[in-house]
Amino acid sequence: MGRGMASRTVWLNGRLMPEEQAKVSALDYGCLYGYGLFETLRAYGGRVFRLERHLDRLARGAALLGIPVSIQGLDAAVAQTLRGNGLSDARIRISASLGPGPTTPDPSACREASVLVLAEAYAPPSETAYQRGYHVQVSSIRRSSHSPLSRLKSANFMESLLARQEARVAGLDESLLLNERGLLAEASVSNVFVLSDGRLATPSVESGALPGITREVVLELVRREGAVVAERHVQLEELFQATEAFLTNSLVELMPLTEVDGRPIGLGMRGALTQRLHAAYRKLVEAS
Ligand SMILES: Cc1ncc(COP(=O)(O)O)c(C=O)c1O
Repeated sequence: MGRGMASRTVWLNGRLMPEEQAKVSALDYGCLYGYGLFETLRAYGGRVFRLERHLDRLARGAALLGIPVSIQGLDAAVAQTLRGNGLSDARIRISASLGPGPTTPDPSACREASVLVLAEAYAPPSETAYQRGYHVQVSSIRRSSHSPLSRLKSANFMESLLARQEARVAGLDESLLLNERGLLAEASVSNVFVLSDGRLATPSVESGALPGITREVVLELVRREGAVVAERHVQLEELFQATEAFLTNSLVELMPLTEVDGRPIGLGMRGALTQRLHAAYRKLVEAS
């Protein structure tokens, strides 16, 4: 809530309403089967960074899963939700679920998707947190590079949540997930970049990584500088040999990855390239 006793305002299926009134059917396939998608976005000074890319990913996922949702007007819905809660620096969540359907599973019988927009104030990690970076572990949970879910920001998010929880229980910041072949895929809620032998690389989407929007922006920034970055299979061993590594997502932007399974990455502190790319990212945010 954050503002005294005033309730949060959310946008559900076309209109703003107090959070307590926002209800979806108990038979929604999002609820019964995790049949849905979501996006997490960040607003800076009231402007949502790369909104159209997030909406595009949502639209592509919805088309693939047969979720009858239109992204038209969702930009206005996001703006209304921010305004309705008096927010300018915020995290935003858009979710789209398949809607209610018969008890015997039949996604094709679902006709009314539910779309929900939530927003709340967001304070990024401190400069000290960025200097320290994340300490992570390699999770026992694996991504399947063959699963369509690894390419989608699916509401079926249990594996990521379990992997993240594993990290929390171990007193760590994040979990890395390998794919079924033991190659690096991503982290539970972020993509990963590795600098080794002076070359930057990130696991390809074919490795089981979500095509992250922040990942896409970093690729763009590096290539714009005329530098090379590869989207390819990345061995876990390369990470241990790396001089620098970092994680990306829309909320934390670029977070140095400074320790994996108790072993320091590079010097065990934020690397120069990571810091430079993060500054470039922030400049781009300011300019957009
Ligand atoms: C599994 C997973 N990978 C990667 C990311 C990063 O995606 P983005 O940069 O679009 O926020 C996320 C974001 O939450 C995620 O859940």
